[in-house]
Amino acid sequence: MPRFSALVSLLTLSLASVASAGSSCVAFDINWNLLAFGFNGKDYDAGTKDTWDSGTAADITTSGRPPFDGTTTNCYLSQFANAIYVLGADSTNPSSVYIYDATAKSWSTQFVTADGFDPTSFSAILDHDTNVFYALSKGEIYSLDMGLLKAANATALSWTDVQKPAFNTDNYQPVMALAQNHIHFLDVPEIAAGSALIFVIHFSYLQPEPQSYGQFPATHGQVTSLFKETGVQQEFAFIPDDGSATYVINVETNSTQTLKGPTVKDPMASYFASTDSLVQLSSKGSVSFLPYSAGATSSNTAASWSTIAKLPSALSTTGGSGTGSGTGNVTGSGSPTNSAKGAAVTGNGGSDSGSNGALSLGLSAGWLGGMLVFGVTALFL
Ligand SMILES: *[C@@H]1O[C@H](CO)[C@@H](O)[C@H](O)[C@H]1NC(C)=O
Ligand SMILES: *[C@@H]1O[C@H](CO)[C@@H](O)[C@H](O)[C@H]1NC(C)=O
Ligand SMILES: *[C@@H]1O[C@H](CO)[C@@H](O)[C@H](O)[C@H]1NC(C)=O
Repeated sequence: MPRFSALVSLLTLSLASVASAGSSCVAFDINWNLLAFGFNGKDYDAGTKDTWDSGTAADITTSGRPPFDGTTTNCYLSQFANAIYVLGADSTNPSSVYIYDATAKSWSTQFVTADGFDPTSFSAILDHDTNVFYALSKGEIYSLDMGLLKAANATALSWTDVQKPAFNTDNYQPVMALAQNHIHFLDVPEIAAGSALIFVIHFSYLQPEPQSYGQFPATHGQVTSLFKETGVQQEFAFIPDDGSATYVINVETNSTQTLKGPTVKDPMASYFASTDSLVQLSSKGSVSFLPYSAGATSSNTAASWSTIAKLPSALSTTGGSGTGSGTGNVTGSGSPTNSAKGAAVTGNGGSDSGSNGALSLGLSAGWLGGMLVFGVTALFL
């Protein structure tokens, strides 16, 4: 691991001078209060959607929270436990899972043994019915059984190697969506636009034939599942890196709605959905949402994205301009963008190419051009 720690510290140095919304995340609790974590050193509860256009969010910062100093923090809702599982929020303990009990409003730290899994380089979903994480890390599928934990167990949990997916992940920048207890792999090379490869979690089985869901582009993007009041998610949103549209894919009807793209076009934004809204956290720290109603195609099509002014920016004002100079081989200025959902970026100033590293951040060409003098390799998978 010396290589990784060197790489991570290089990255930390190079991003420290530019603000990083990758250290923050948004999530909902089971009553669909919008929670914002790691916002400039604080956590907030912005309440339910009907309250977002007025007032200020409640400060829920309390002890036991992670430092939120990672570059790729991801939050997941366990609907049975009413708990938010936070991964990647502690750079010194990258495999720890921080648990926020949204009922008790308290934090605990679950120690996790990585066991081959790379906590700095993965993409994951939390399966609804089993409360088990499934992750793709370095071309391998791993699982982590969270039981029904809403507070950490003294016994460490462990990532388990499930299998290699039955498709070539060499140049695959993962887009993993969850619906109906199935992982939907989008943008798999050679798979047609509008189709997904399906991994059936309960049988650890990759269906050999892609499933067609209608129309969406074969491109990289961000995904998040739309919750239901109870039961497994049946829809997920897919926002391509160019932000040109928001696609909502229904895995029951095999169909896709095309909705407005987010106002902030940001390949490094992250997303989280409730039952009735899709929330974007941009890499500049702003939060906005698109209202959504399952089955109401015409109102969904007409709906627009709005800023949630009730929340402060996730980024400090000093870092908000996004100007900075790096160390080592990473220098430049421009808008810093990170926080690909479930992925991690690693700056590599050396010669190690990181084996099967798919270039997995949606680094836009413009950002790359402006930001990098030379030598950033994103190591994912
Ligand atoms: C803690 O973990 C142990 C060992 O896996 C298990 O037997 C026990 O039930 C767990 N406790 C809770 C409260 O989940
Ligand atoms: C969706 O596609 C699957 C597989 O092709 C098929 O079994 C199912 O009946 C389809 N559902 C609908 C509502 O057409
Ligand atoms: C930058 O990269 C070059 C080769 O790519 C290497 O020789 C040099 O040591 C690197 N510098 C730093 C500061 O990492």
